[in-house]
Amino acid sequence: MASFVLSQFKTACVRLRLPFIHLRCRMADVADMRTPYRSSSDTFDVEDLVSRNPFKQFESWFDEACHTPDIVEANAMALATSTKNGLPAVRMVLLKGFDMQGFKFFTNYESRKSSELQENPRCCLMFYWDPLKRSVLSTRYAELEEEFKDPEKIIPKPDYWGGYRVIPDSFEFWQGQTNRLHDRIKFRKMKDGEILKKNITHEGEDGWVFERLSP
Ligand SMILES: Cc1cc2nc3c(=O)[nH]c(=O)nc-3n(C[C@H](O)[C@H](O)[C@H](O)COP(=O)(O)O)c2cc1C
Repeated sequence: MASFVLSQFKTACVRLRLPFIHLRCRMADVADMRTPYRSSSDTFDVEDLVSRNPFKQFESWFDEACHTPDIVEANAMALATSTKNGLPAVRMVLLKGFDMQGFKFFTNYESRKSSELQENPRCCLMFYWDPLKRSVLSTRYAELEEEFKDPEKIIPKPDYWGGYRVIPDSFEFWQGQTNRLHDRIKFRKMKDGEILKKNITHEGEDGWVFERLSP
């Protein structure tokens, strides 16, 4: 009887402990993961900006990403949305155009992201270009413009397929560093009546200001 109970107990222990041990091993591996980023001389500081307008800065980084052979889809970006009650969701979409008004992507108007954008137009976009160790985050409190049709597409599309434009009010440019003191420069719109603290906030172009953030 005692040996039967013991064997049952052992079986239960094995069943219960195996995933736990497995998880611990995997977590140890993840914690030890380290990728050398850029050299410490490759800092990204205020003077490294190609423009004081974040759209032009984005254009420069995007262009570099498009010409980096190891980056297969430079226009792939994560789109984060949430319901009006704040339940978040994130998924990948493809950037299909951008200008000084915003970023365009196409999707199914009957999808979950579309229904979330209809009830709560705030969203975030994020690009990550691993070989360059760069990411761009844009933006909280975005607005969505009217849906638009893609005029360049020859193939007829169903009515439920169309575009969105995300209009940013902030950009965060992130450059990974080997010493983990990553460089971040954040652009935001100047607030009404804001007096700039000159040693922290720099004046950008077209109503933008920018700040260098601590890693
Ligand atoms: C690299 C990549 C690019 C994608 N591009 C798009 C896209 O441009 N538009 C789109 O609707 N879905 C795209 N998808 C699929 C979405 O990530 C998502 O699975 C789908 O749109 C349903 O999302 P939803 O249910 O949250 O609305 C892409 C997926 C990947 C992995």
